[in-house]
Amino acid sequence: KMKKIVVAIDGWSSCGKSTLAKQMAKELGYIYVDSGAMYRAITLYFLRNHVDWNEKKAVKKALKDIELDFRLNEQNENVEIYLNDENVEYLVRDLIVAEKVSEVAAIRSVREFAVAQQQKLGKKKGIVMDGRDIGTVVFPKAELKIFMTADNAVRVERRFRELVEKNPNITIEEVAENIQMRDYIDSNREVSPLRRAEDAVVIDNTKLTQEEQLKKALKLAKNITG
Ligand code: CDP
Ligand code: CDP
Repeated sequence: KMKKIVVAIDGWSSCGKSTLAKQMAKELGYIYVDSGAMYRAITLYFLRNHVDWNEKKAVKKALKDIELDFRLNEQNENVEIYLNDENVEYLVRDLIVAEKVSEVAAIRSVREFAVAQQQKLGKKKGIVMDGRDIGTVVFPKAELKIFMTADNAVRVERRFRELVEKNPNITIEEVAENIQMRDYIDSNREVSPLRRAEDAVVIDNTKLTQEEQLKKALKLAKNITG
């Protein structure tokens, strides 16, 4: 039996992390965890319940009422995020959530809450997790770390294509602005800023198809698992 490892995938917003992470997990027979979905679900909860996230006490109190879960969908294909037993996989992708998520994810107690759950999920290895601090903070000893990048314009275009399908009123400028803002906050915050771990392999997928990036990453994994 092949050795099970932890695969940590970090990088900028909309550069293909979750696409790669999902496909890798499927190929390797591992579980896939979208850590960004957790921060998005927490943000959704705060927005819905008018939690003032500048108030430390209010945040701590609210976190006590949040239960996050990942469950397989009906087709048994993808895992989806649940917030207090409600499937919010679709809702958390909304731009309304994306506009606030980086602010919420910069809060120390929010990160402690999410990271503890992420580390628990990775205890048995055999996991692919994507996010911003997976290789640096969540799993600093991950056997394989990948740092994804892609040109700015390509990232904006890809994310725009996804969002406009749900909301035809969305503009490319809005999407560009959101991505730029999140990248800025995520890489400049005090707690666990987005950084490439020293031992992470960089994959720039500006010109790579999904198949090509998958092949590259699987080769890296194979070099480790044998
Ligand atoms: O899919 P996209 O790249 O747009 O973002 P995401 O992975 O869904 O993450 C949404 C936001 O959550 C990021 O912009 C970060 O603010 C935060 N995040 C984080 O702080 N740490 C992580 N490990 C994952 C996400
Ligand atoms: O998880 P992250 O926000 O980094 O990105 P993603 O949601 O995996 O990818 C953003 C979009 O780029 C998706 O619509 C992917 O289908 C697309 N993509 C692509 O066109 N070519 C790639 N090599 C990787 C992703």
